[in-house]
Amino acid sequence: MMRGGAGHASEGSRAYAADVASVPQQHVRLRIEQVVAGGDGLAREASGRVVFVPGVLPGEEVAVRLVTAKRDFARGEVLEVLEASPARVSPPCAAHRRGCGGCDWQHADPARQDELKLEVVREALRRTARMPDVVVTAGGSVPTWAYRTSMRVAVDRAGRVSLRRPRTNEPVVLDHCLVAHPLLDELVHDARFAGADEVSLRVSAATGERSVWWTTARPDDIVVPEGLGAGVTVGVDAVVHEEVAGRRYRVSGESFFQSGPAAAELLVRTVSDMGGDALAEARSVVDAYGGIGLFAGSLATTAPAAAFTLVEGSAAACADAVENLADLDADVICSPVEAWTPSPVDVVIADPSRHGLGRDAVTVLAATGAPVLLLIGCDPVAFARDAALLAAEGYALDEVRSLDLFPQTHHVEVVGRFRRSTAH
Ligand SMILES: C[S@@+](CC[C@H](N)C(=O)[O-])C[C@H]1O[C@@H](n2cnc3c(N)ncnc32)[C@H](O)[C@@H]1O
Repeated sequence: MMRGGAGHASEGSRAYAADVASVPQQHVRLRIEQVVAGGDGLAREASGRVVFVPGVLPGEEVAVRLVTAKRDFARGEVLEVLEASPARVSPPCAAHRRGCGGCDWQHADPARQDELKLEVVREALRRTARMPDVVVTAGGSVPTWAYRTSMRVAVDRAGRVSLRRPRTNEPVVLDHCLVAHPLLDELVHDARFAGADEVSLRVSAATGERSVWWTTARPDDIVVPEGLGAGVTVGVDAVVHEEVAGRRYRVSGESFFQSGPAAAELLVRTVSDMGGDALAEARSVVDAYGGIGLFAGSLATTAPAAAFTLVEGSAAACADAVENLADLDADVICSPVEAWTPSPVDVVIADPSRHGLGRDAVTVLAATGAPVLLLIGCDPVAFARDAALLAAEGYALDEVRSLDLFPQTHHVEVVGRFRRSTAH
């Protein structure tokens, strides 16, 4: 059981003291120092060994059961919050209380979530990139609930929409999802996909269109969905049309889309703002990892003189991008970025998947010689690794913003602007 109780010993803490006495090697009392990338709290035992604990906040004192213990670090689970942070709130989601691993920061007040994400980004730049002096500011958040328009989910034996219990394969039926757009939540509640392995659900906030597709564990397994309701299209080719900053985009089932249109709009606005004069004056812009053409499409007015080259590895996303950018001066190149032959450009926008750019893509993008490179990352540690690789290629990081596109979770989006030094 988790209980908050600021600053005084409770009955629970006396019970915990008894536990400590009986199994000292497994139960510990810890003060949480900080949260780390990945969302867990970090504390230190008296020996100095680091313990990672989910579901906690900096400053809290917690009774913890160690679930894995290695020589250098351990992982624990909270038995009781002995002294709660003022930012601790009661998670409102029933699925979360049943163990759903989807929203791991529901116990934190949303304003505190933003601050913690900022600290996680700063820490990644300090530790991984060795860039302690880069200025990182909070760049805004989407609404804290009902923001998601796409979800990839598991199902239980009856085919009900579920997410997994953390660090297990066990499905936890959602029934409702508080971060899902109401049209998506209707699917979460009503739809059944018995026999599916994973299911992708997507809705459009602009048009009300809905699409679903799924994978099965074995190719011959047949899934007959139930409870989809009228007008839901089925299959990887099913499309919805979404609107971002007044422009409409086709998004097929297999193509990536941001957590929702509010996230897409905030991201585009941030990139446009940070691109500033470089975008306004650009004659050529590369939209690397361009997906369905979100940046090329939405930045066409910010960079009115620019020809866009979108480089994207997914055939489905490329097909969407060709349609979405048909009215603009834009080429779509369907290729992994690492295999693309770079040509000189004025601005690079790069929005890779969770793993970041890596050395090969950094080499390719740096070979464009772009004076300004805007990097978007959804993993602060991968972003910091890329920042160090870009620095070695002559790109200095001069501004970073952290965006909260996934409230109630530890996920944070990072946007950084790099300028090429003239020496290169
Ligand atoms: C985070 S998404 C960003 C998409 C787009 N910028 C947007 O905001 O909608 C990353 C995109 O990179 C694509 N991708 C992943 N690895 C790639 C690679 N090595 N080369 C090119 N594209 C890749 C994915 O298919 C996906 O569309």
